[in-house]
Amino acid sequence: MFKISNLTKKFKLEKDFITVFEDLSFSIESGEWISLTGSSGCGKTTLLHLLGGLDKPTNGQILFKDQRFSNLSPASRAKLRRKNIGFVFQSFNLFPELSALENVTLPARIAGATLTDAKAKELLDHVGLSHRLKHRPAELSGGEQQRVAIARALMMEPEVLLADEPTGNLDDENSIEIMKIFQKLHQDHNKTIIMVTHQKGLTHYATRSLFLKDGSISE
Ligand SMILES: Nc1ncnc2c1ncn2[C@@H]1O[C@H](COP(=O)(O)OP(=O)(O)OP(=O)(O)O)[C@@H](O)[C@H]1O
Ligand SMILES: [Mg+2]
Repeated sequence: MFKISNLTKKFKLEKDFITVFEDLSFSIESGEWISLTGSSGCGKTTLLHLLGGLDKPTNGQILFKDQRFSNLSPASRAKLRRKNIGFVFQSFNLFPELSALENVTLPARIAGATLTDAKAKELLDHVGLSHRLKHRPAELSGGEQQRVAIARALMMEPEVLLADEPTGNLDDENSIEIMKIFQKLHQDHNKTIIMVTHQKGLTHYATRSLFLKDGSISE
């Protein structure tokens, strides 16, 4: 699904460069559920953004389904991402003025798809929120907002789900609820999942654990 070769990411800060990681090479197969851990600031979010085509590497290459994802124009990258990759942000990134249902249908509306409400309702039902369709984010609990964000990520039926600390703001009970949703997606819908987590207790849900430290990745 992903073939990462010699991936390097540096950020420019005035005159200096910060090297987040250098020469990372690894692959992720279709159907894997990866947990990505590592200490704060080691580059997990940066790596997820690169995998999702939200940012470009400084050097190296990402092949996504044999396409040179990292070398595409921003517009082509966005198109490929919208079709294939669902992104769950740590801070939910829901639109405050839109209802749960409207938040979930938004990606489809941006992509120009029609007849999206039924699909969005089905997804919200799938994450246990069919009774909260008209609520705005501020009227939802943290766990409920996270579930709306997951439903939205699944709207375009992506093969890949990238989730940045999907349970970072949740208590143990809600974290396990989210893991159960992921289990269903992985087992019944064969989704490839890459999740960043700080919670050691959640890594056993994944089929493979990757650890990022000092700019290199290990199993
Ligand atoms: N846009 C940016 N410009 C400059 N430096 C950045 C930028 N984004 C991230 N960094 C730096 O890159 C490093 C990695 O950041 P990143 O957000 O990927 O870490 P992380 O592993 O996700 O951390 P956390 O667990 O705290 O979320 C950090 O030192 C951060 O300060
Ligand atoms: Mg992060």
